Amino acid sequence: MADARPFHWEFSPEPIAREVLRIEGGHRLEGSVAISGAKNAALKLLAAATLTGERCRFTNVPEIEDVRVLAEVLGDIGVAVDHPAPNVYEVASGDAEWLFVPLEAAAKMRASFILLGPLLTRFGRVIISNPGGDRIGRRPVNLHVDAMRALGAEIEYRNGYYFAKAPGRLRGGQITFPQITVMGTENAMLAAVLADGHTVIEPAALEPEVDDLIVFLQKMGAQVERTAPHRIEIEGRRRLRGADHSVVPDRIEAGTFIVAAGVTHGRITLRGAEFDHLGAFLDVMTEIGVSVSCSPDEIEVDATAADLKPLRCRDIETAPYPGLATDLQPPTCVLLTQAEGTSHVHETVFEDRLEWLGELRRMGASVEIADQHHAVINGATPLHGAEVEIGDLRAGASLILAALAAGGVTTIRGAHHVQRGYEKIDAKFMELGASIERISEGT
Ligand code: EPU
Repeated sequence: MADARPFHWEFSPEPIAREVLRIEGGHRLEGSVAISGAKNAALKLLAAATLTGERCRFTNVPEIEDVRVLAEVLGDIGVAVDHPAPNVYEVASGDAEWLFVPLEAAAKMRASFILLGPLLTRFGRVIISNPGGDRIGRRPVNLHVDAMRALGAEIEYRNGYYFAKAPGRLRGGQITFPQITVMGTENAMLAAVLADGHTVIEPAALEPEVDDLIVFLQKMGAQVERTAPHRIEIEGRRRLRGADHSVVPDRIEAGTFIVAAGVTHGRITLRGAEFDHLGAFLDVMTEIGVSVSCSPDEIEVDATAADLKPLRCRDIETAPYPGLATDLQPPTCVLLTQAEGTSHVHETVFEDRLEWLGELRRMGASVEIADQHHAVINGATPLHGAEVEIGDLRAGASLILAALAAGGVTTIRGAHHVQRGYEKIDAKFMELGASIERISEGT
């Protein structure tokens, strides 16, 4: 680690612009909205671009804070990142000056850990901060680290940092995860494409964003394929080339707008969304009574006549794709407050992802949080305006949904959390007829 920059990066997060959303609810949302590129694909694609010295060009990149942060982290380690037009990023990773991803990056965004695989496999070493926990649970990275070790990496953990090196080149191997992990699968793939020999990843995550990454890696010349639903096989290459790619549409943003139509009894057309990527969420919507249909490139959501039914005698259970996405559990809960009867919610992927329901209760929802993984929602309850606080990204979008459905005015603090992952969310809702004001706190 001779050329690692000394730890002069101090953890001093930039002051966050404190903004408050003031939403007057009760407007029926109608019209058409463009769905942006997926955050959880874009971040991995930018990281994949460090696998080559040649230029990579990405279109349909969402204009969100997480992408901006990752671009900044790449810039800090010496990668050239250009942003020549809205939603377009170009990455040229001729050489990295500093193979060091600081605590500051990890503190701002857990997904910075996705740089472990590509930097280690291409440059043979990296020091990367442990992203630790966040507001939706402990979020460990042990499975990422184990996967790198299975490919021959030597990794030590000291003072909050993983010191990783690959003596010679990483070598292909069998990576067996004890459970499905999205970023773990992606990190393993990103490392294995430049390793020496054959790698098998099992069980591999099946999320559409993982397949988007596979498509991009194939364009770069990587030999990587999904050979069974939960198996990915890779034959490592010595070198990869630059490539162009358009980021897959964001299925979580699409789901958020579907719920927006549901809770406001509206009718919304989603442009550029992928119907086939919505998985079990669609079944839940149909069962609750929101009509979702597709035509080429568009999804039509009609809740004008919706008589929302509860899901009785059965959990809504989050699960890896194609199950109900954990990222769509909070919006679904908002919809369930407007459905008649009792609904049970079982969050299986993350702990602490039900905590935000306490804020929803302040708006009149009848919700019992039984434990970290179970909640019961009794509907239908009229929601009313209140002062609430956003604690994380998906809970934030869901409080906005609740405010759109509520009678009166809701004031939402912590709006910056939503900017991490949704492009122009207030502007998009306003185009559909919502009344939203963004106010800097203290003005
Ligand atoms: N896990 C471990 N050890 C690990 C990795 C994961 O124990 O090393 C556990 C997690 O704690 C969790 C489970 O495995 O209980 C599954 O987590 P996974 O690794 O699949 O999650 P992730 O890859 O860290 C991505 C998305 C999340 C999304 C989940 C599940 C990105 C950047 N993040 O996280 O998105 O909820 O997959 O689909 O792709 C969001 O966008 O708001 C978000 C949180």
